[in-house]
Parts: sequence; C-alpha cells; structure tokens
Amino acid sequence: MNLVLLGPPGAGKGTIAGIVREKLGIPHISTGDLFRAAIKNETPLGLKVKEILASGELVPDSVTVDMVKERIAQSDCKNGMILDGFPRTVYQADELAKMVKIDHVINFSLSEESVVKRLSGRRMCVSTGKIYHIIYNPPKVEGKDDDTGEPLIQRDDDKEDAIRNRLKVYQESTEPLITYYKEKGLLRTIDASAAPDAVAESFLTALNL
Ligand code: AP5
Repeated sequence: MNLVLLGPPGAGKGTIAGIVREKLGIPHISTGDLFRAAIKNETPLGLKVKEILASGELVPDSVTVDMVKERIAQSDCKNGMILDGFPRTVYQADELAKMVKIDHVINFSLSEESVVKRLSGRRMCVSTGKIYHIIYNPPKVEGKDDDTGEPLIQRDDDKEDAIRNRLKVYQESTEPLITYYKEKGLLRTIDASAAPDAVAESFLTALNL
C-alpha cells in the first residue's frame, strides 16, 4: 500500500507515521528527515539545502524528486511506503504518479493556532529522529532523549520567522494538492487536533483498517 500524508507543517504527520508504520509493515519516508540527515552528514546535498531548510522555503523540485526516486527504489519499499512531506507541489505529485500508484492520501486537518503551538514546543533527537513536545509529549528527563540520553534540539525552522514562512509556503504550494487528490478520488481528511493515539485511530479507520 502506498500512502501520502498531506497537511500543514506540525500537523503531526511524522508522529502518526511513527505510531502506525509497524502495524502497516511499510517504511515511513520523510523527505524532511532525508534532508536533515544529509545536512547532519555534511553531504553535497546537505550543504546545498541547509540554508533552504532553515528558512522554511522548499528545496527545488528537481533535487527533491531525484532524492525520492533513489530512496523508493530501495528494497524495503517493495510492498509500499508512507510518504510524509512528499509531494509538496503539483509538479512533484505529477512526478510521483509516474513512479508508483498511490492508494490513499490522508490529509491532516489542524488550525493555524494549533500548528504554531505544536511547532514552537517541538524538540527532537538528531540521532534517533524521535519527536517530542515540551508540553504534549515531554521526554522523561527534561531536554534528553528517552532512549539515548542525548540532548534534544529545536529545529532551526521551528523558530518564529521560519514557522510563519513555512505556513505561507504551505498555503501557496502544497494546499492545492488537496483539490488535486480530491479530484482523483484519493483524499481522506482526518481531524488532527486530538491526542496522538486518537489521531492514529482515525488514520487507520480512514484506511478501513
Ligand atoms: P518536513 O520535515 O517535512 O516539515 P513539515 O512538513 O513542515 O512537517 P513537520 O515535520 O514540521 O511536521 P509534522 O506534521 O511531521 O509534525 P510532527 O509529527 O513533527 O520538511 C522540512 C523542510 O524540508 C521543508 O520546510 C522544506 O524546506 C524541506 N522539504 C521537505 N520535503 C520537501 C519537498 N517535498 N519539497 C521541497 N522541500 C521539501 O509534530 C509536531 C509537534 O507536535 C511535535 O512536537 C509533536 O510531539 C506534536 N504533536 C504531534 N501530534 C500531536 C497531537 N496529536 N497532539 C499534540 N501534540 C502533537
């Protein structure tokens, strides 16, 4: 099963993918995580996209599409995948349609006010990728990853200016995909404002699971 997760930044796409991926038995592919790993490892791709991510702008389509093509050609994707953060433009969606058949698109609906609260309180562990929130999902020990004890960081793009820019970019470039996938009969919208376990439940219900 090939799934696409749509929704504004901070709507909980990565959190819910983390909860449901084992049940679904398919990998969670987050283009944001792939770019952040490249930045951390200082690869040529990472050096190219570092400033773009910090500003909240989108990485150019051609760079993103090439990266996704390479990732989904790997053997763990042979039974399907959860795509999180891709596609983000109509061009990317057209390119994706040439690569795989999409079965469902789950659209996470959340108010702008909640988005800002979630993003400004988000913390993450760079090495494990685990996501926390200082109020909604705090670590056992403040500022430390539960599993490794490593210090948690705040993403550069979770600072106020970048959050505002990401919301603008989302509205201009990504929101049109809601209509794009609705017209193809693939879109299911879920209320992302509840607690994570309840959102995960709605997610699976939307897939008739
Ligand atoms: P990316 O990493 O994809 O960022 P995003 O779409 O902005 O999504 P986020 O990761 O911010 O949010 P999320 O919905 O996964 O929420 P999360 O689960 O973390 O992209 C980053 C950048 O990379 C882009 O700006 C761009 O530059 C580049 N990029 C990536 N893909 C690209 C593409 N296709 N084309 C071009 N450029 C691209 O949750 C957020 C917080 O809320 C957490 O603290 C969490 O603990 C908390 N939370 C989650 N769910 C709940 C809940 N139900 N209740 C309470 N709190 C919750």
